[in-house]
Amino acid sequence: MAVAFPPPHVMALSKVQRLYDACDVVFSSPAAAPTLGEIRWLQQLLDGMEAADVGIDDGERTPSSSSDDEQSPKSGRLLPALAFTRITYVHIHQSDDFSIGVFCFPAGATLPLHDHPEMVVLSKLLYGSVRVRSYDWVTELPCSTARKCGLARVVAGDEVRRAPCEASVLFPRSGGNLHAFTAVTPCAILDVLTPPYSEEQGRPSTYFNDVPIPSLPGFAFLEETDLPEDFNVAGAPYLGPDLTVDMDDDDDDDYDDYDE
Ligand SMILES: [Fe+2]
Repeated sequence: MAVAFPPPHVMALSKVQRLYDACDVVFSSPAAAPTLGEIRWLQQLLDGMEAADVGIDDGERTPSSSSDDEQSPKSGRLLPALAFTRITYVHIHQSDDFSIGVFCFPAGATLPLHDHPEMVVLSKLLYGSVRVRSYDWVTELPCSTARKCGLARVVAGDEVRRAPCEASVLFPRSGGNLHAFTAVTPCAILDVLTPPYSEEQGRPSTYFNDVPIPSLPGFAFLEETDLPEDFNVAGAPYLGPDLTVDMDDDDDDDYDDYDE
């Protein structure tokens, strides 16, 4: 007997539910690092996603452009991309093992250079164009203060990514673990972080200045810095399809709006 693949009950799930379920399978055993095959699986799921699949109207939407409409009780209520007048985080899910959310940028906005300590991050540009600058540590140096600093290798010098493009992935020591984004046009990046940032667990988000080294092309000196006082990230509600989550690892109740 022929077997349909994927099975009908999987086809009925929203894309964001399929992404959550896959993350739950891959990242809920943090003792084991994800395999390359698992990373590729998640990248493929992200590559199949559009802004409407996470409740955002990128202005390109046609009535049939999202297969999730039938699964979303909130269908028809989308966050309009052009309404984001500053960088806005749309929180979708967070547990101890991973987080899923979307950074939405107005044109010209910059998310300063920051790191992802001991983390794997998968990112999908949902719409628009973004300029990316990224580094990996070569060596962190003892600095005169308690602040982090060191030599880093350039991974992306000043690279413009335009949607649609493939989901990217960064690792603790490769792939551009430190990065900065500047929106060339209004754009949005769907991020999966594993494990999530956690001050208590020694994974704070740290910001850096990068100083080119003229005698060493392809490298820069990074030094920890404070966020500019006028920089903040707004929070917006998630309006996409409802998620059914594994109650054992859900800590969404502890989540506060992402205002800094
Ligand atoms: Fe980041």
